[in-house]
Order: sequence, then C-alpha cells, then structure tokens
Amino acid sequence: MRLIFLGPPGVGKGTQAQRLSADGGIPKISTGDILREAVQKKTPLGLQAKSYMDGGKLVPDEVVIGIIRDRLEEPDGRQGFILDGFPRTVPQALALDSMLNQKSSGIDRVLNFELPDDELVRRLSGRRSCPNCQSVYHLEFNPPKQAGQCDQCGGKLVQRSDDQAETIRKRMEVYQSQTLPLIRMYEDQKILNRIDGSGSPEEVYRRIRAAIGK
Ligand code: AP5
Ligand code: MG
Repeated sequence: MRLIFLGPPGVGKGTQAQRLSADGGIPKISTGDILREAVQKKTPLGLQAKSYMDGGKLVPDEVVIGIIRDRLEEPDGRQGFILDGFPRTVPQALALDSMLNQKSSGIDRVLNFELPDDELVRRLSGRRSCPNCQSVYHLEFNPPKQAGQCDQCGGKLVQRSDDQAETIRKRMEVYQSQTLPLIRMYEDQKILNRIDGSGSPEEVYRRIRAAIGK
C-alpha cells in the first residue's frame, strides 16, 4: 500500500507510521526525520534546512521534493510506503503525483489525523525523542522505562528544538495556511480518510487498520 499520513504537528503521525511500518513491512518515509538527521550530521542539506526548521517554517519545496524523489528510487519502497509529513504544500503534492505517474503508480489512501489544538500542544510539549534511532516518547503518555534514556538503543533522549511554545504556534499556523488545502484536494480525489487522533495509540491504530482494510 502507498499511504500518506497527513495532519497537524503533534497529532501522532510519526508514532502511528512507525507501528504500521513494522507490522506491514513497508518503510516509513519521514521528511522530518531525514531533515533532522541531516541537521545532526551537519551535511549541506542540514545546514540549509536548520534555520527553517528551528523557526517552524517549511523547508523550500524544491529541497524536500528532491529528497523524496531520491528516496522513492530505493528498492525498499517498491511494495509500498508510508509518507509521514510529505507532501505538505500543493506544489509538493503535484510533484509527488507526477513522480508516481512516471512509475505508473499512485497513492492508495491518504489518512488525515485530527485532534483539538490544546491536545496537540500537550503532546508536543511533553515529547522526547532519541536522536540515534528516532524513537519517540512522551513524558506523561509514553514515558521511557528509564527516565531520559531510549528503550530501544539506550541513547540520551532530547527535546526537539522546534518543540518550544513559540515555534509550536508557528508550526500550527504554517499547517493551517499551507497544508490544509491538501485535505480538500485528496477529498476530491476520493482517497481521503479522516482519522480521529484522540485516545490511546492503540485506539488510533485500530482506526487506521479499519480505514485501510487490514
Ligand atoms: P515533522 O518532523 O514532519 O513535524 P510535524 O509535522 O510538525 O509533526 P511532528 O513530528 O511534530 O508530529 P507527529 O504527528 O509525528 O507526532 P508524534 O507521533 O511525534 O517536520 C518538522 C519540520 O521539518 C517542519 O516544521 C519543517 O521545517 C520540516 N519539514 C518536514 N517535512 C517537510 C515538508 N514536506 N516540506 C517542508 N518542510 C518540511 O507524536 C507527538 C507526541 O505525542 C509524542 O510525544 C508521542 O509520544 C505522543 N503521542 C502520539 N500519539 C499519542 C496518543 N494517541 N496519545 C497520547 N500521546 C500520543
Ligand atoms: Mg513526526
């Protein structure tokens, strides 16, 4: 299955994509993860992206489109993939369409996750993640077994630099203005499912399985 996970910052896209990827044997392709890794390694891409990300703004379309074009050439995505955080502008969505058209394929379903703003802020403020293996935790909702340490690889957990109150607000504004139009676009294509993002990760996961018929 070729899936897109759409939704505001902190709604749980990464958490759910990771689980579905592990269960379904298809890669989770997250532009946010790819960019953060590049920032951490101080590659030319990372140096270019850092100031946009720290300011809660989107990295320019041509940069992220290039990342996805390269990533979709890798063989692990031939049986399907989960795009987490891409596309998030209309030009990105159109570029994706044309990339997939060239391979005579297309997106099967777009899942749009929804959650009230105050809950998004709670989820983002308490998030901690592992810079080594990208595992995601929450101080209250999903704490690691040992405080400050990744259960998977023992790495030291950090707060994302864009999870400060001011930057969270900016990211939510950017989502409203740049990404919301995609919902209508995919609705018109009749491939959109709305997923209630509230409740436990297990409850949300059950809704996803029902929506994709697995
Ligand atoms: P990106 O990394 O994509 O961030 P985002 O879209 O803002 O989304 P998040 O990763 O913050 O949230 P999420 O929905 O994955 O939630 P999570 O599962 O972690 O992008 C970051 C930046 O990179 C952008 O601002 C931009 O600069 C750049 N970028 C990336 N893609 C781009 C693109 N296509 N174009 C241009 N620029 C791009 O969950 C959040 C927290 O909640 C966690 O702590 C988790 O443990 C907890 N949680 C999850 N589910 C539940 C639940 N059911 N109950 C309770 N807690 C839960
Ligand atoms: Mg994420």
